[in-house]
Amino acid sequence: MISAIWAEDENHLIGNKGTLPWHLPEDLKHFKNLTLGKPIVMGRVTYEGMGKRALPGRQTIVLTQNKNYNPENDQVIVMQTRAEVLAYAETIDELMIIGGQRIFDLFMDVTDKVYLTIIHHQFDGDTWMSASHLSGFEQVSAVKHQKNEKNPYDFSFIEYQRLVAAN
Ligand SMILES: NC(=O)c1ccc[n+]([C@@H]2O[C@H](COP(=O)([O-])OP(=O)(O)OC[C@H]3O[C@@H](n4cnc5c(N)ncnc54)[C@H](OP(=O)(O)O)[C@@H]3O)[C@@H](O)[C@H]2O)c1
Repeated sequence: MISAIWAEDENHLIGNKGTLPWHLPEDLKHFKNLTLGKPIVMGRVTYEGMGKRALPGRQTIVLTQNKNYNPENDQVIVMQTRAEVLAYAETIDELMIIGGQRIFDLFMDVTDKVYLTIIHHQFDGDTWMSASHLSGFEQVSAVKHQKNEKNPYDFSFIEYQRLVAAN
């Protein structure tokens, strides 16, 4: 199974200058809970924005077209094609696509499940998701959380699964 997980603001913004536009510890915890123990796939830009770190407890896979790419981290697997990632996904239970925008685009048509965080705020940034990405999906749960001392914005955790075509 292939799942995608991302956080976006009210305008579908997801990134700014290679990193996240916000700091929301509760969403980072949610991301960790959902990804722990599962392989994660990210684009080279996101990987570099994270300082070339492998996230603990998750096999980190970085996608780049650069055949000579050096991840400078021996815990990271580098892949060059979508086909390579899809072949890998066949060998495991759940592969987590964690971004950024170009990587979500690349795998959206084979994604079975989406874990979305909406941050109820509008930020400045340079990278947006397409609103149409969720058109083939149905919402299966949504939980809204109020801002608090450590988390300065209201946010919602929403899960979607791909609609199964009726015969
Ligand atoms: N809010 C969230 O949940 C979230 C999650 C993740 C990331 N982000 C943000 O999103 C932004 C980055 O997104 P992005 O779209 O600019 O970059 P990205 O998706 O992280 O990485 C794009 C790179 O992936 C590689 N790539 C793309 N398609 C490929 C293909 N078909 N085959 C092989 N390699 C391929 C290319 O690397 P090469 O150029 O090396 O070939 C490309 O430059 C950052 O600001 C990041 O913080 C937000």
